[in-house]
Amino acid sequence: MATKRKGAQHFQLLRGMKDVLPEEAGYWKALRDKCLSMADSYNFYEIQLPILESKDLFVRGVGQDTDIVSKEMFTFVDHGESVVLRPEFTASFARAYVEHGMVSRPQPVKLFHMGPAFRRERPQAGRQRQFHQFDFEIMGSASPTMDAEIIVLAYGLCTDFRLDVAVHVNSIGDTPSRKEYIKALVHFVKPHKKILCADCNKRLEKNPLRILDCKNKKCQSILEEAPEMVDFLDEESRTHFVEVLEHLDACEIPYILNSKLVRGLDYYNRTVFEIVPTGDESRQGTLLGGGRYDGLVKMIGGRSVPAVGFAGGVERILQALKTNEKFSLPEVRPDIFVAQLGDRTKRKALYLFEHLRKNGFHVTHDFSSSGLRDQLGMADKLRVKYTLVLGQKEMMDETVMVRDMENGSQEVVDIAKIAADMAKRLQRA
Ligand code: HAM
Repeated sequence: MATKRKGAQHFQLLRGMKDVLPEEAGYWKALRDKCLSMADSYNFYEIQLPILESKDLFVRGVGQDTDIVSKEMFTFVDHGESVVLRPEFTASFARAYVEHGMVSRPQPVKLFHMGPAFRRERPQAGRQRQFHQFDFEIMGSASPTMDAEIIVLAYGLCTDFRLDVAVHVNSIGDTPSRKEYIKALVHFVKPHKKILCADCNKRLEKNPLRILDCKNKKCQSILEEAPEMVDFLDEESRTHFVEVLEHLDACEIPYILNSKLVRGLDYYNRTVFEIVPTGDESRQGTLLGGGRYDGLVKMIGGRSVPAVGFAGGVERILQALKTNEKFSLPEVRPDIFVAQLGDRTKRKALYLFEHLRKNGFHVTHDFSSSGLRDQLGMADKLRVKYTLVLGQKEMMDETVMVRDMENGSQEVVDIAKIAADMAKRLQRA
């Protein structure tokens, strides 16, 4: 957006977009590091996917009548081709799986991706138009152990950050049993049509399952007596679900069986789940969500490939971390600070800094400052163990002054021997 004042043009963020400033970098790094370490432990491989995809991929994959596709995609025509800024990643994972013949790799293929997604929603707390997700997918296995692995991983990621969360889980069965259930649900809801909210009246025609997820109090009160999906599950889906729950029990993962949980994307079958902050019963601030989607790969032109996965919302998790008293960012504490006194010593100081860094030391500096007092102040703030001071005299003598920041003692050391000297001191410290 641009506003004009006295001839100058001022640009501002578009609605629903956010800059992430350096102050937040520590939180972003902590989450990305955690995702990568989870990916390593659970054997997921990182994949990079494009932000721009064909519109049709999501129309077919996520579903024409879902909110995401029908109302929220940023769509434009590029040289006659309808393209979108991806609203989620799962359809892109499925496209990449098919396009790169991953079906011929050892199955299952376990993939991880982190990046931006775009939905034209009404911006509010926890809801942006550009937001970020991290996403873990297991493609090529129908085993209930995989559903459980995904839920255990998602839960572990939250609890490693000491977040208090609740896991909501449900099974929406396979297509035939779901069709029977939808019939029963529509039959139950239709007599209450007049009380239902406007959105649910539309859902009744286009996507009745989503009525279950409506946050409107009147709709919710009608649904209290509604038939439950669990009573319509076919035998295979029921056995599958029981096995998933048995795995969760064995891993001591507390969960809430939530028969109203259906998720807002059409590709799901069988297991669906969401992780929410404890106490968020309406699930407005869902941190992570996912489930099984055995039909998606075929739906977008591949073979029949069962799959399961989840995505977490980066901004929502970071918000939860910032307000979580039980979590603090890991402390960044370099061992050595290189200080210099004046322009002529800067060249040597830069050399010294790079020499120590290359030798594996955790070293830092502030070459924008020349005053010793400021630099020692900064070294103090960073709680480094040693400050190396390079002044005119040290330059001439090819030495450096080593200051022990704990007791204030100082010693002159030959600059050629500084790496060995520091290694010895740090071993002692
Ligand atoms: P989703 O529930 O639409 O699922 O999104 C996952 C997470 O992204 C949500 O739980 C939330 O934390 C975050 N999120 C969604 N929309 C916004 C928004 N407008 N602003 C901020 N955060 C948001 C999916 O996207 C599926 N692809 C997940 C999946 C992966 N299922 C199977 N595999």
